[in-house]
Amino acid sequence: MPLLGVNIDHVATLRQARRALEPSPVDAAVLAELAGADGITAHLREDRRHMNELDIERLRGTVHTKLNLEMSIAKDIVDIACKIKPDQATLVPEKREELTTEGGLDVVAYYAQIKAVVSKLGTNGICTSLFIDPDRIQIKAAKKIGAGLIELHTGRYANAKNSIDIKRELDALLHGFKFARDIGLRVNAGHGLNYWNVGALVFAIPDLEELNIGHSIIAQAVLVGMDKAVSRMKEIISRTHSKI
Ligand code: PXP
Repeated sequence: MPLLGVNIDHVATLRQARRALEPSPVDAAVLAELAGADGITAHLREDRRHMNELDIERLRGTVHTKLNLEMSIAKDIVDIACKIKPDQATLVPEKREELTTEGGLDVVAYYAQIKAVVSKLGTNGICTSLFIDPDRIQIKAAKKIGAGLIELHTGRYANAKNSIDIKRELDALLHGFKFARDIGLRVNAGHGLNYWNVGALVFAIPDLEELNIGHSIIAQAVLVGMDKAVSRMKEIISRTHSKI
């Protein structure tokens, strides 16, 4: 059954709305773990719009499950990662003007730079995942780089509006998953997943290793509390998986 990584960036976004001390991402991580999260994800963006370095340090000191740091390949961010040593780093493309990570990493275009970062993080004991679209060329390049782990971008599936488009995007993810596994990669998925679309993904690809979900869980947590928000998501994943 896929594990659940909870992305808590939005908790820091809320705090930054007032440049205040609350709500604390560390408190959110503790509650998410107590509710059954299998990992905590945070994105240290170059513009520090939500998480800052101190947040990541504090999370490193408190997360019991797995700390997954989302990050670009910028040198200062890579240096911070090597210092703080999350359990896992997920390399993502980053544009200042975007609201959230828009597309997958272009592993082919930035091959040499990404390879150098994967190797530096590996030397520091950090397992690296590459966030990519379900595209064979990108998947092959990720394998060649020596990443070991990828996260398939589920944004196009999440944005699909009708059953034909949904099926097409699920098929693309399934083919990407199979191809990646056949060449020896471990495969996660994430972006845009929510309480309504996660079930069909788990049903289509039950052997995904981990799902990374942020917006939807934190949006529910604001209304019903972190405990219910995380445990409902876990319940949907496990209920769907038990039907396969
Ligand atoms: N995975 C990656 C690599 C991401 O960049 C994000 C967004 O930060 C997510 C998963 C979570 O996406 P969402 O907030 O839409 O659930």
